[in-house]
Amino acid sequence: MAEGEWQILEIGLADGSLQLTVSALPQITPFPGQYFLAFAPGRDEPIATPLFLAANDQNVWRMNGFIPPAWQPGTRLRWRGPLGRGFHLPPAARRVALAMCKESTGSLLPLVSLALRQNAAVVWCSDHLPGHLPASVEGLPLEAVAEVWTWADYLVLECELKELPRLAAALGWDGNRRPGCPTEILLHTPLTCGGIADCGVCAVRMKRGWKLACKDGPVFDLEQLEFPQ
Ligand code: FES
Repeated sequence: MAEGEWQILEIGLADGSLQLTVSALPQITPFPGQYFLAFAPGRDEPIATPLFLAANDQNVWRMNGFIPPAWQPGTRLRWRGPLGRGFHLPPAARRVALAMCKESTGSLLPLVSLALRQNAAVVWCSDHLPGHLPASVEGLPLEAVAEVWTWADYLVLECELKELPRLAAALGWDGNRRPGCPTEILLHTPLTCGGIADCGVCAVRMKRGWKLACKDGPVFDLEQLEFPQ
């Protein structure tokens, strides 16, 4: 885990949500699903904001999250990260599916690039397809995810914790059925302290006790989650 300072270069809209552009950190390679916690020093911000890498090139990173309205281009941010556990795309996966409730935060887009790079066929299931999906990715509605689950050899899910029952219903998952392929889920919960204060606000119920999304997640094996939350 590292820490440092960014200056916001740009703030723009990406598929309906705000996206920050900051300078790239060439020495850091976050796994998709890991996050950075950032705050603007000297401002009255009650909690730090989790930011997820949505796209990057050599010079800049585009970060998604629930951006505080007071943040503007030029705002200086203190950050630490990458934090938590991210996705682990199996190198042998050749049929990769991604599914989410509502719009994506963009946190799954780096996985799409990784999957395409290893010549996997990629299917994206959601009610709102992002406008910037590569043309080679097949877009399907969320209700197709149960069928897609039998096709995929790696399935990635994303939702807010409170939306898990809806996503589980679309999937036909009752908490007991064993996934037919490795299935990981990015669960969005408040990540208030990032594990520093053990505040417990991010607790997620697993089959074997509780885990903290900030440290043990926010990406979990679906099979280990207790359902319903
Ligand atoms: S956010 Fe405080 S323990 Fe997880």
